[in-house]
Amino acid sequence: MSQTEIAEQRVLNFSAGPAVLPETVLRQIAEEMIALPDVGSSILEVSHRGKAFTKYINAARDGLRELLSIPDEYEIMFLQGGSRLQFAMIPMNFMHEEKCAAYAVTGSWGKQAFQEAAKQGNAKTIWDGSEDHFTKTPNESFQLTAENYSYFYYVSNETIQGVQFSSEPDCGDVPMICDASSDFLHKPLAIEKYDLIYACAQKNAGPAGLTMVIAKRSLLQSGKSNLPGYLDYRSHADNESLFNTPPTFAIYVLSLIVDWLKNEIGGLEKMHLQNQKKAKMLYDVIDKYRSVYIGHADPDCRSLMNIVFKFPSVELQSRFLSDAEAAGFHGLAGHRSVGGIRASIYNAMPVKGVEALAEYMTDFAAENG
Ligand SMILES: Cc1ncc(COP(=O)(O)O)c(C=O)c1O
Repeated sequence: MSQTEIAEQRVLNFSAGPAVLPETVLRQIAEEMIALPDVGSSILEVSHRGKAFTKYINAARDGLRELLSIPDEYEIMFLQGGSRLQFAMIPMNFMHEEKCAAYAVTGSWGKQAFQEAAKQGNAKTIWDGSEDHFTKTPNESFQLTAENYSYFYYVSNETIQGVQFSSEPDCGDVPMICDASSDFLHKPLAIEKYDLIYACAQKNAGPAGLTMVIAKRSLLQSGKSNLPGYLDYRSHADNESLFNTPPTFAIYVLSLIVDWLKNEIGGLEKMHLQNQKKAKMLYDVIDKYRSVYIGHADPDCRSLMNIVFKFPSVELQSRFLSDAEAAGFHGLAGHRSVGGIRASIYNAMPVKGVEALAEYMTDFAAENG
């Protein structure tokens, strides 16, 4: 089968993650899979300490530093264990015995991170959106003091509920830690507001198996000692992410995604504009056909990455999903814990893919409203 025939088989993939990747990146991976230029082996077959891989890990690290304007006082680390390992590593490293760790819980992932931290010590939910079914982010600022709190933790985009902070919360005088797993690289970042920000790669930055952690050196130095080597961030920072064998393939793909963002998209400002445009197309349809679509998040807390909505009846929802699948729109079923529909429109989902979904939703509403 030719490359063109294979490409024609690609569906519009609205999966929440692992998610769609840019087609140009996939093509480059396919081309280089047998042998990297001037190397003679694929990325899967070379040492993580050799010259060939060093080029890609440096490109991924330097590229992130450039795209996000990350100052030198921050370490960029490439870990494994998914975002869930971060749920445990953060309290393990930074929760100090005599203090509380503050969690703002705006959805399922924040709740699970809090529960993991509570196993290890004094974790406290200082804001909890569960009574409102996780439809909002907090309006208030949190004036926390370093005397009482080890850190403040929040999730910038709750992937399951489709609820996103439009800017960083104010947490007072304590280190701010953020799970940006599902909106990392979707817009520029005010990095200096964070002490640690992390994201798994499988939404906006590549395949599963890689977690990117960006942390201030001063926070890393304040971490607990006597932790097992892998679980101490300093092991990774001090060894430039080569403490153990890192996920080499995923780091190579990240370096290609970074290039794509820089050269094809034109940077994160442009990526943000495109993401705003895509999300607006779908929210406009939801708002126009209110008898058919019921948006989940409050309008000012709506996610640009995960568009979550329901229907007035289960029958309508089943019809929407089966007709969508037949029309080539895949991965639209909501998370098993909340149901409904979730259209994940990460960076790599092309504008024309979202246009097609908006058109399908408009036609469906006209027929079923
Ligand atoms: C916001 C957020 N945090 C954490 C996770 C868990 O990530 P992982 O499966 O890599 O542990 C996810 C996964 O979807 C997520 O969306």
